[in-house]
Amino acid sequence: MSASQSSAPLPETISITLTVNGEARQLDVLPWTVLLDLLRDHLGLTGTKKGCDHGQCGACTVIVDGRRINSCMAFAAMKDGAHITTVEGLAKGGDLHPLQQAFIDHDAFQCGYCTPGQICSGVALIEEGRARTRDEIRELMSGNICRCGAYTNIVDAIEQVIGFDGEAGR
Ligand code: FES
Ligand code: FES
Repeated sequence: MSASQSSAPLPETISITLTVNGEARQLDVLPWTVLLDLLRDHLGLTGTKKGCDHGQCGACTVIVDGRRINSCMAFAAMKDGAHITTVEGLAKGGDLHPLQQAFIDHDAFQCGYCTPGQICSGVALIEEGRARTRDEIRELMSGNICRCGAYTNIVDAIEQVIGFDGEAGR
């Protein structure tokens, strides 16, 4: 290592506060730490998955201040003060979130790798209240790519929680 390399200043960390699954967390992060890595590597919340790492597959979806985002594309330092829900935060005590239960009811997961992102995205979609038909569910879930072809069952699960009569938009 050259003298100039060894004398390079260490990067400064940034102090942030996040509320993660209802718990306040004080964290020191490097400027380039992305939220996905912070959740998985620093907080041990490995339910959120790294797929493409380029904002294209949705496996890393978490809910930030009520909105679903690709956590691989968000710098943690930019989320100071945010409320974050990961798949680990959806169940209450021993009770699964209704959409988690619906995924079980409809066999809406196969390999399961994309499932946490699908469920987080579906929970936020339901709370957005914008989906009125099956096609709209498909459109609004299009940022979450499942390689195993469980889409039909995923849509069934979301329909169940929204409370469609099962025929809308088929
Ligand atoms: S890992 Fe973030 S969108 Fe694919
Ligand atoms: S369940 Fe396998 S990639 Fe989605």
